[in-house]
Amino acid sequence: MKQTFLYFGSNLKMYKTPSETAEFVRGVSERTKDFEGLPIKRFLIPSFPCLPAAGAANNGRLLLGAQNLHFEEDGQFTGEVSARMLEDLGFVSIIEIGHSERRHVFGESSKDCGKKVLAAVRHGFTALLCVGETAEEKTFSCSDEVLRIQLKYGLKGIDPEVISEDRLWIAYEPVWAIGVSGVPADADYVAERHAAIRRCLCELFGDEGNKVPILFGGSVNPGNANDYIVQENVDGLFVGRAAWTAEGFNALLRQVWPLYLNK
Ligand code: PGA
Repeated sequence: MKQTFLYFGSNLKMYKTPSETAEFVRGVSERTKDFEGLPIKRFLIPSFPCLPAAGAANNGRLLLGAQNLHFEEDGQFTGEVSARMLEDLGFVSIIEIGHSERRHVFGESSKDCGKKVLAAVRHGFTALLCVGETAEEKTFSCSDEVLRIQLKYGLKGIDPEVISEDRLWIAYEPVWAIGVSGVPADADYVAERHAAIRRCLCELFGDEGNKVPILFGGSVNPGNANDYIVQENVDGLFVGRAAWTAEGFNALLRQVWPLYLNK
């Protein structure tokens, strides 16, 4: 039996109110409770104002994360949220950094992502760094170069000890595959990119690079999830739309779990 964890979770983006989030968290937690004790990390990443409701509804079964943070400890940064604030909530364990929408809608740079990763791990969080190339970068056959740059900027200064504590996760999410207008990626293409990410992680961290989980995300759904999860170096799935109901989350997790175990 495979000993490493399956990573399976969802970013709720700017969807669900606090009460809807609470209901969703309760639903996922209840439906997936028999996974307790198995090597699976189930996680949900609601928006900031929904975090307290999510924390109250969760019974400790699910890991909860935030969608972003500011890298400074505090300061004159209206509208931003610091690691200290999230730490004080007491139940947030993951910080998602550099999601495609942050990079491409809000202009976040790879350098800023790196500062955010450092701030997150400094405060004891797991940093979930998202990387991915645009359609144009793919067309110009620059995908691996782009991923390598995002990883090198995003992981600058990270102590490999963070990896042994399982506090650094990578999500590969090709920009062109995400969301309602996304085109699902071919599994072979995904496998090649995950291998390139793994090579880069090993360049940066030596053997420890092999321990960093690499999740795949972008239009993952019941029709394509199996093809992704069986690929080498795909250690988990980071799902959007298909996991935004408790039934959907639960069904998809149950669908891929046996395939992951038998890899
Ligand atoms: P999607 O979102 O599954 O709805 O494409 C994925 C993501 O943005 O992480």
